[in-house]
Amino acid sequence: MVKKLAQIYEGKAKKVFKTDNPDYYWVTYKDDATAFNGEKKGTIDAKGYYNNQISALLFKELEKAGIPTHMVELTGDREMLVKGLEIIPLEVVVRNVAAGSLAKRLGFEEGRKLPFAVVEFYYKDDALGDPLVNDSHIAVLGLAEPQELLLLQDMGLKINRVLQDILAKAGIELIDFKLEFGRHKGEIILGDEISPDTCRFWDATTGDKLDKDRFRRDLGQVEEAYAEVFRRLQEVLQ
Ligand code: TMP
Ligand code: ASP
Repeated sequence: MVKKLAQIYEGKAKKVFKTDNPDYYWVTYKDDATAFNGEKKGTIDAKGYYNNQISALLFKELEKAGIPTHMVELTGDREMLVKGLEIIPLEVVVRNVAAGSLAKRLGFEEGRKLPFAVVEFYYKDDALGDPLVNDSHIAVLGLAEPQELLLLQDMGLKINRVLQDILAKAGIELIDFKLEFGRHKGEIILGDEISPDTCRFWDATTGDKLDKDRFRRDLGQVEEAYAEVFRRLQEVLQ
């Protein structure tokens, strides 16, 4: 059993600890919730539990589909053991349906189906407010090699197909989501989390939002939505 050692980082939603294995880190998920680059703050009861459990289920399915992820194993209700990554400071967003910032940027009505999946890159920099960047910007900033960028795009689209299939079985439409990747022993692998914090999930029948937009937009029933996603995924993945 790997031992949890000193905390080395605390982010908005997770804490990271060293372990007695230099390749592995221990991640704990918090109930703290923020939105709009930290301007809106709150807590969502049991969010840490649901996000950890949902991420673990989805990482496991992605591994089965041939996508390498940082998860080593689920170690507790709110904790997982992960591989250490050299983080690529990009948020890779994949979208199937117009919502959020894309709806705003292109003047599309929320809910308009896109003719094909759209991949976007955002530069992870709080001071700049995580701006949208293109491949030239990424090259100028030295964030990733051109062939790495192509790989991120391909992995994003493959992850989209795998997640869409699983979620469809759970009666959930995958509107859009955000991924983060890192380098580990010469390989690019999926990091961070996949949860209602980082995805837009709409009920496939009613269109009800089952994700963090309930918190961002003060829609109420936030914890219930996270619990519902976990319940449905458990049902289809057990
Ligand atoms: P957006 O429409 O606000 O750009 O969000 C696109 C997707 O990315 C959505 O599923 C929520 C997710 N996301 C994050 O995970 N973290 C963030 O900081 C932001 C802005 C979005
Ligand atoms: N995680 C981001 C923040 O705190 C934004 C979001 O998810 O909407 O600011």
